Amino acid sequence: MPERAAQLTSSPEWQALEQHRLQMQSVPMKQLFAEDPERASRYFIKGAGISLDFSKNRITDETLSALLALAERSDLPARRDALLRGEPVNRTEQRPALHTALRHPGNASILVDGVDVVAEVQHTLARMEEVVTNVLDQSRTGFSGKAFTDVVSIGIGGSYLGPKLVNEALQPYWQGGMRCHFVANIDGTDILEVLRQVNPETTLFLIQSKSFRTQETLENSTVARQWLVDYCGDDSAVAKHFLAVTANVPGAENFGIQADQVFPMWDWVGGRYSLWSAIGLPVALTIGMDNFRRLLAGAHAMDSHFQNAPLAQNLPVVMGLLGVWYNNFWNAHTHAILPYDQYLRSLPDHLQQLDMESNGKSVTETGEPLACESGPIIWGGTGSNGQHAYHQLIHQGTRLIPADFIIPLKTHNPVATHHADLFANCLSQSQAMMAGKSLAEARAELAAEGHSEAEIEQLAPHKVIPGNKPSNTLVLEQVTPESVGALIALYEHRTFVQGVIWGVDSFDQWGVELGKQLGKGILPRLLGKEPQGSGSDSSTDHLIELFRSVGDY
Ligand code: F6P
Repeated sequence: MPERAAQLTSSPEWQALEQHRLQMQSVPMKQLFAEDPERASRYFIKGAGISLDFSKNRITDETLSALLALAERSDLPARRDALLRGEPVNRTEQRPALHTALRHPGNASILVDGVDVVAEVQHTLARMEEVVTNVLDQSRTGFSGKAFTDVVSIGIGGSYLGPKLVNEALQPYWQGGMRCHFVANIDGTDILEVLRQVNPETTLFLIQSKSFRTQETLENSTVARQWLVDYCGDDSAVAKHFLAVTANVPGAENFGIQADQVFPMWDWVGGRYSLWSAIGLPVALTIGMDNFRRLLAGAHAMDSHFQNAPLAQNLPVVMGLLGVWYNNFWNAHTHAILPYDQYLRSLPDHLQQLDMESNGKSVTETGEPLACESGPIIWGGTGSNGQHAYHQLIHQGTRLIPADFIIPLKTHNPVATHHADLFANCLSQSQAMMAGKSLAEARAELAAEGHSEAEIEQLAPHKVIPGNKPSNTLVLEQVTPESVGALIALYEHRTFVQGVIWGVDSFDQWGVELGKQLGKGILPRLLGKEPQGSGSDSSTDHLIELFRSVGDY
């Protein structure tokens, strides 16, 4: 077993947790609540305006001490400080991961290769402000002099999921009447359905691609550009209707976008951490720059909390360690993200990329095979919809599925008793997961309903809910720019904490490259530009033949 990876799992801290898990195996959370009336207040922490109730976890003080000892053993405080200082924590690409600099208020400097990145960020924010102001006050218009009414953001992965989430989340803050559309998929339906809804004279396109090499984004942008050119008869309108956000300025220029219409991205920002940069332009154009700055301020507040709060009161640290507890010691394979707020409906999608692209790794940052499991499958959806779909499996399935419930205290849309109903649904789900229903309770319930003894015998086992299923409840005051910023930053740091414990590089994503390479070989064969039968495996060859037999491409 390679040294460093094995050192983790054979360390006294890891072994202590293994032993402790055996003790905890038969301890019901219900009993822990009964024994300690203070449990809810003792396992409740706050940071950057977000409260975390983590009392419905299979933990005691001993568990927390053991998890914190593991964090100390992994040098978490020093690793966190290195991240925030801008050290090259992305070791395989020798880069910092300075998404925190993107939301820094600008009263300090962080140097990368001698350049103050905070100053560059502030300069870019000023440029964003200018374009947002000009578009919203209509001093910047389309080629025919008409005001822009629609923004089409073309990008994928991190250049799509974050802005889409935030744009939806902050709908109550939309202003100026700008409609925002997102196109990501290489499926032509995505771009064509959006183009059917917009007017070439009043549509601003944002090409969002750090690399400006991503197939989906380039092909969709080419379709959009041609659509505009076809409408105008020439390409004279392209300069007015296209902006790009990229680290590859020559790539954008080759596409026909002037350098002064290009907003920067930097090597030190990972795609899935980029929504705080000019990749957030679609959001800023929809909610205005003041609100965009509030979003950054919320994220910065969480950065400060992560940096300064003691580990035991630190939201990303506690949530990260609880995730490690279930992932590595209880064999939980997945983690559910359950926002009880319609505006946060895309949070699970964004966190899926954030976490699974970051911690979906099999080797340590020094290249040794891991001796333990790394990132879990992240999934979820909005409550209460999920209660009528997959919660059955959470409550009665054979798997342990830790869940995060996320809910605001106040709604933007009071109607009848809906918000109290929503809150009740959220609490009832975490309570049901924790408490469950015993066989005796199921039998008593059936008896009270007047069932015969034979019916009780038959039905009771089906009504048992084992309980003892862990969850966190994250409470926001309301869905605001600040709370959304803080929430997303919380999960970014939680992902980082777990990556540090597992010893992986959370900032690279080499696993996505193979499919891209293979796709380059398959495409010419699908298009008949290369001979058939020259492929690698008979399944792929056969499916290529099947595609070509239709001939409709
Ligand atoms: O395919 C993975 C990925 O590289 C993501 O990490 C990234 O967010 C996405 O593609 C888009 O990349 P780009 O912004 O360079 O187009």
